[in-house]
Amino acid sequence: MMKMATLAALGSIAFAMIACGNSDSGSLNGGSLGDPGAGPTTNNNPGAGGTPPGTPTGSNGSDPNAQNNPNIDQRKINYGEALRTASLKLVGELPALADINAVADSSNPATKATYEAKIDALLADPRFAARQIQWWRDTLKTGQPGIITKQGMPSYDTAATFATEVVVNDRPFTDLFTATSNTCPTYANGAFVDASCAGNAPTAGLLTDPGLMSQYFANMAFRRVRFVQETFVCSKFPAEFSSTPAPMGSGVYTSPWNFNSITGGAGPSVKVNFQDTSSVVCANCHTSMNHQAPLFAHFDMNGVYQPAIAVKVPSTGTPTAVLADWLPNGETFAWRNGTPVTDLPSFGKAVAADPDVARCIVTREWNYAMGRGDVVNDLATVPPVVTDALVKDFSSNGFKVKRLLRNIFTADDFVKF
Ligand code: HEC
Repeated sequence: MMKMATLAALGSIAFAMIACGNSDSGSLNGGSLGDPGAGPTTNNNPGAGGTPPGTPTGSNGSDPNAQNNPNIDQRKINYGEALRTASLKLVGELPALADINAVADSSNPATKATYEAKIDALLADPRFAARQIQWWRDTLKTGQPGIITKQGMPSYDTAATFATEVVVNDRPFTDLFTATSNTCPTYANGAFVDASCAGNAPTAGLLTDPGLMSQYFANMAFRRVRFVQETFVCSKFPAEFSSTPAPMGSGVYTSPWNFNSITGGAGPSVKVNFQDTSSVVCANCHTSMNHQAPLFAHFDMNGVYQPAIAVKVPSTGTPTAVLADWLPNGETFAWRNGTPVTDLPSFGKAVAADPDVARCIVTREWNYAMGRGDVVNDLATVPPVVTDALVKDFSSNGFKVKRLLRNIFTADDFVKF
């Protein structure tokens, strides 16, 4: 990443474009979190379009064109193969020979129930928790070796552990955003040890986790909101689209927000002009981002919640940010246009209530089961025709991830080869 002094020397418009457009600038994790600067044309709709060319669907038909593919119809149920794959994914080991033999006869109608019982057993297996922690480390990108050892840094494992505890204990997935205590548990010898996070932060599930706040620390807290967007909505910014996009400056203004709802213009107090349209329309992304980021701005680089704003503005002298750097007077915080929030807990509730967030975890779990890539970084989107029924079942049955996993690991697409 470029040094701040260099950025500042380039002047506000130029540096901001570099800061947004350079994939290295956001790359805490070897390129994960992708490149935010691809502009408003970035693929941002996990539901749209088909599977990109070369997407590995393997023998598991997550191919959206399945209906048109004659080979798909020739797939046969193979519970033995499915159980092997499920066992490796869910508990990290192959099933016992007796278990494989028990589901060997896929043509026997009774085998379906036997297979489903074996999936239930895997989800109840103590080894499942350990695998889930690793899955969440990968998903939250907190799993890099060595990162925990730095002095003064918080644990980077509490967020993945908390998410796993929510899954394993069959709590609603929405607790990831709404839990108000015990969001920094540890896991040892097969047991969760509950603990609340250190410090005085308002608590909103893992959104206020000190490890995550430290890992995604950056100027103006924008990397933190990017993390929330990409991890839990499964798409990059821009996140919101107007039904009436309008030409503006060098491009098109596509956001539903009032253009003047974020800081900009040429006044002496404007450190970053988010209303700039000369090369890209900053506001396409930053209308959403600027209404969220100040909420995360009190966490310092070690993830400690401070009474005052603790992030900097990358302009001359890299001053500590003030609210007016994001928003003009009178603007409220918001998850989305039309969904105002007042603080991090109400932000968490708004995230939890967003149907795109439910769809995103369904997509992520589907990709996990089917051995596909990351929905954001690899553009491994899954079309609604595949996820609709799963999303509906998940949302109307208490947001239980184990139930979702059972549905996926017993789906035709998973058991047919
Ligand atoms: C396509 C969406 C998008 C557009 C358009 C966009 N940004 Fe950003 N911007 C982001 C994201 C995402 C981040 C967070 C990047 C990260 O840290 O991972 C960011 C970060 C920033 C930062 C903080 C950079 C740092 O030093 O950490 C500034 C300042 C900024 N943007 C200003 C602007 C300005 C000014 C424009 C218009 C010239 C603009 N952005 C256009 C998405 C966008």
